Parts: sequence; C-alpha cells; structure tokens
Amino acid sequence: MKRIAVMTSGGDAPGMNAAIRAVVRYGIKKGLEVYGIKRGYAGLLDEEIEPLSFASVGGIMEKGGTILRTSRCPEFVMKETRAEAAKILKRHGIDGLVVIGGEGSMHGAMFLAEEQKIPVIGVPGTIDNDIAMTDMSIGVDTCLNTVVDAIQKLKDTASSHERAFIIEVMGRSSGYIATVSGLVTGAEAIIVPEVPVNYEELSNRLLQERERGKINCIVVVAEGAASAYTVARHLEHRIGYETRITILGHIQRGGSPTAFDRLLASRMGVAAVDALLNGETSVMTALQGGKIVTVPLADVLKEKKKLDLHLLELAGLLS
Ligand code: F6P
Repeated sequence: MKRIAVMTSGGDAPGMNAAIRAVVRYGIKKGLEVYGIKRGYAGLLDEEIEPLSFASVGGIMEKGGTILRTSRCPEFVMKETRAEAAKILKRHGIDGLVVIGGEGSMHGAMFLAEEQKIPVIGVPGTIDNDIAMTDMSIGVDTCLNTVVDAIQKLKDTASSHERAFIIEVMGRSSGYIATVSGLVTGAEAIIVPEVPVNYEELSNRLLQERERGKINCIVVVAEGAASAYTVARHLEHRIGYETRITILGHIQRGGSPTAFDRLLASRMGVAAVDALLNGETSVMTALQGGKIVTVPLADVLKEKKKLDLHLLELAGLLS
C-alpha cells in the first residue's frame, strides 16, 4: 500500500478534523502518501482529490466542522455510481480509503469495499451516537456539551419566569442526545422515539410537581419522537406553566471538539491507517470498553444501536 485517501461524509461532527489530522500524519509517518477527498462521495465523483502534507493539517484539531468539507450523496446508493467512484480511485492510484462519517456513509464504505473491492475503513463520526458496535462516535461528546450548556441557560430563564421549556434536540431516529442531555441537566421529562409517550400521564405528573412547588419545567424531546410544537400542543395549559419552545437545531453540530472527541478521533484515525496497513477492509474502527478495535461493517449495519433504557430510568429516578 502506497497511497491512501481520507474523506468526511454526511453530517459534519466536531472532531472530524482531529481524525483527518491523525490519518494524514500517521499515514505519512508510516511512509504513505495521503490524499484528501473534498465534499465526501460527491467530491470523489467530481474528482476533487488532492495531496495532504504533514503541515497542511496543522492547527485543525481544535476546529469544528471538517476542513475537507462534506455532503450527502444520495446517488451513491446506485451500483453504477459506486463503480464510477472505484474507477476514479484506481485512476488516482489510491490503494486504500478512510471514510469518516455516519451510518449512511458507512453503508457507502461497505459497498465500495465489498462490491468494488476497494480497501475501505470506516470511522464513525456523527453527533447522533446511533452507530452500532461502538460505544461512542466522534462528535457525540461535543454535541452533548453544547446541548447541556444550552439547556442550562434555558433553565435559568425558565426558573426566573416560572415557565416550562420544550427543547427539541437532534438525533435522527435515536433518543441518545435527548436522554443523556436530559439526565445530566435534571430535565423533568425526556421524550424519545424508543419509548411511546402518554401525554395524559405526563401532563398530570408535571402538574402535580408544579403544585408541589417546582418553579420550572424542562422537557427535552428528541426530533425523532415528535416536534417541540407537537409536545407543546399536548402539554400547555395542562401543566400549570406558561410554555416556551426552543429548537436547538444545527448549533448542536458546531463548535470546537472536546478533549474526549479529540482523543477518540486521534485514536480512531491511527487505528484506521493501521487497519489498512494490516490488509483489513470493510471494517469500522470502534470504541469498545475503552479499547479501539475494528468491527466488520456488515455487522455494524445489520443492527440498530439500542438506546440504554437504564439511562432513561436513571433520569426519571433522579429528576
Ligand atoms: O446525523 C446528524 C444530524 O445532525 C441529525 O441529528 C439530523 O437529523 C440531521 O443530521 C440533519 O441533517 P441536515 O444537516 O442535512 O439538515
């Protein structure tokens, strides 16, 4: 293996730059030429491929987003598109590819590896923490810290005005961001797609708590469960608080990565290069019980990552 390439794909996640830096610097130290592919699979199809040097990735670890930029590329579900991508990689002499991204990007990586026979290693990067077989993906921790900071601020104003806030967070079809951010901010309720909500029971409980003297009410709702507007329609006028809505939106994807994400990304970037050098393909780097391992992409994509319902119980117990 002489020349490898790295790309970021799908929704950006804080820490992707630290992963790029690790792939480039470790790759070069191992005697490889490292190329960057701009704008994910779309940029690959447009042949936006350029060499990266040791110095070109200096000062990027602390930056949010991805210096390689990213995109969603729905055409990549088609076999002909992937065959074209493989041709382009071969034409550029690229012997191995590292794809940093979410679940959709891991699907693309698996097909490129298994059907087009390109050695590909996936690195999980998404704020949603919805990729199976890894305890954490790159970007989750930074996102959680951003959400917690926002909820804390909303709590200040909620208490001052004795109001309820319905706060909608991202996560696609996963309730992970809502569960953990709700737990660690002591939210009064957490609504997630994994557990059906009974609005009647919920509003009765929130009203009782209000009558017992609570002066604010924070409800965190995962976007995959319901919109904050729907939740507000069900709860307002029934829980004894004036209600406000906040949709945190894409602020959750930005910001300088936390130490945890920088470390995870650095470890995974190095592990991805090692995997290519060891002849592995169609695998993803994963964090399992504190260790970085590689797991087959086929296994990762077979199952949906389950939300740990004990976390929800814990949140309920402590709020
Ligand atoms: O997968 C990351 C994520 O931020 C999800 O939480 C969210 O549903 C989606 O991407 C938003 O996508 P886009 O940036 O394309 O609007």
